[in-house]
Amino acid sequence: MGAEDVKFRYPLDDIRTKTDIVELISTYVSIKRSGKSLKALCPFHTEKTPSFIVNEDLQRWRCYGCGEYGDVFTFLMKIENITFSEAVQELAKRAGITIQRSPAEGKWENDREKLLHINNAAASYFSQALLAAPHAMAYLHKRGVSQESIVKYSLGYAPEDWRALAGYLTSKRIDLRDAEKAGLVIKSDKGSGYYDRFRNRIIFPIQDVTGKNIAFGGRAIGDEQPKYLNSPESPAFAKNKTLYGLNHARKSIAQEDRAIIVEGYLDALTAQCAGFSNTVATMGTALTPEHVNLLSRYTHTAVIAFDSDSAGMSATLRSAPMFEQAGFDVRVLCMPPGNDPDSLLREGKASEFTRLVTEAMPVVEYRLKLLQDSSDLKSDQGKVEMLKKASAILADVASAVERDRYIRGLAQYHPNFSGGATRAEEQIRRDVDNQVTARGRASSRSPQMPRETAKPDAVKSRPSALTLAERCLLKAMIMDPIWGPKVIAELPPEQFATSQGITLASAIANRLAAEKGMAWNDLAEDLAGTEAADLLSELSIADSGPDITAQAVEDCLKRLKIHWKRQRLKDLAARVEQGEIRSSDEEFAEYWRLVQELHNTV
Ligand code: GTP
Ligand code: MN
Repeated sequence: MGAEDVKFRYPLDDIRTKTDIVELISTYVSIKRSGKSLKALCPFHTEKTPSFIVNEDLQRWRCYGCGEYGDVFTFLMKIENITFSEAVQELAKRAGITIQRSPAEGKWENDREKLLHINNAAASYFSQALLAAPHAMAYLHKRGVSQESIVKYSLGYAPEDWRALAGYLTSKRIDLRDAEKAGLVIKSDKGSGYYDRFRNRIIFPIQDVTGKNIAFGGRAIGDEQPKYLNSPESPAFAKNKTLYGLNHARKSIAQEDRAIIVEGYLDALTAQCAGFSNTVATMGTALTPEHVNLLSRYTHTAVIAFDSDSAGMSATLRSAPMFEQAGFDVRVLCMPPGNDPDSLLREGKASEFTRLVTEAMPVVEYRLKLLQDSSDLKSDQGKVEMLKKASAILADVASAVERDRYIRGLAQYHPNFSGGATRAEEQIRRDVDNQVTARGRASSRSPQMPRETAKPDAVKSRPSALTLAERCLLKAMIMDPIWGPKVIAELPPEQFATSQGITLASAIANRLAAEKGMAWNDLAEDLAGTEAADLLSELSIADSGPDITAQAVEDCLKRLKIHWKRQRLKDLAARVEQGEIRSSDEEFAEYWRLVQELHNTV
């Protein structure tokens, strides 16, 4: 269906007027008022400083970083990955405007909408069933879940019956083949019937940020296995992109500028109710980059509060680098042994949990702590082994200043400590430095980094791969209008490699922003008298060479981006060493992210 058809049939202006664009967008990103304008970190590309602007008067939004822009409909389309007419219908529904569907159109726009409808029916069935199941209620009360929480989280109960839900859905004229797609019923091996997936379980509806029931989690009431059973993936539910509790938590995550990440449904529920309303759960699965990406719309500070068992510890060690790569300040909360957030808070220890959140430690410190906890620090040999492993951990720390801080803490375990702290520190420092250099040597031998690039003037002696890549990109942007916006979105002009390249790229970006054409002559006029004029004429007469393919543009972009990041890291590292950048600065977060990102390539 084309946009024109929709316009013809739907009261778009009415819907637009009745939709609050600020409220809509702030469901997905944290919007900050700065002077007269409303700004946010763009949800459509990765950035550290906000270039996403919302204009309340015009009811429009635009990102100056990636060039995307639009109104309420296009925002919802892009962020929910739905069609224009789905966005129109969704916003109409929220604005209380009824839209007549033509009979030919069928009842549902797509599978997803159909599944959401079925899930809603199931959710209301489960919550009614809970009221009729005293033993399920008793279980929840025993676990300290209040009546208020039962309502707030729409908790429910799936009866101990093979066809309870199936029967209900059928009575609501829902086709069980569709209910099967939603993961609520399972086709029976024998015969043609369907039976309920969830039986005798407490039901936790899993909701997306807008509160839609996209899936369910069911907890066994007794010792049945598995303890938790979740809906399978469906067009409505992508597990790796869903965080339980985010719909309730998103506002306070944005306000407090910090998220607490726990493992389980009940951990999130209990923590939110105990006042830690910025808590979300990964539902037991490993945290994924998509989860991190989702959270980064609201904050760049994360506290990982996984269980203290070995599964929780290894999940923490796997998750922390993902946050770091996305530029998060990430801390690890150490749960007392045998506790999870739910059990701790149920014991009434909210103030202890507050303390644990405040004392949550940087990842390196956490790794050192795990190492020390598992070492025999009573024997000299145990201490020496611990220090050896600790040097390997410290070699991951990019800043020498920071490394030193940890080294001072470790000196007491050195067998030579009695000979004076300084001597012990020096010996540890030497170990760490050796590891750092060993890694430097190993990585400079890697095939991606030919050895000559280490020599300072190797780049200048011939047209390097870098300058060739830069020229290829500039030429692509001038010759083919599709490349300009893409390249600029991924690589802003100031990140080009040479000063001529920067000047030319800025001229191109200016013409794009002003929606002007990209003729050679016009560009030449823009650049008259600048150093980039030469580069431009060189490009215009150079052999056109092989066609500029999408792959070539990708490759060149990648090369220039890596180059820029390395330069930037060098610059930031120097300033960190000089103490010009502190660990609370935004630039430190950027520095840290680059360290992680380039770890394997530098
Ligand atoms: P309670 O025992 O009810 O307090 O749950 P918990 O959250 O403390 O359980 P646990 O730490 O064992 O698991 C954490 C999370 O992992 C749960 O909330 C579930 O989301 C998930 N999980 C646990 N057990 C299973 C299982 O058997 N299957 C699946 N799919 N997920 C599970
Ligand atoms: Mn628990």
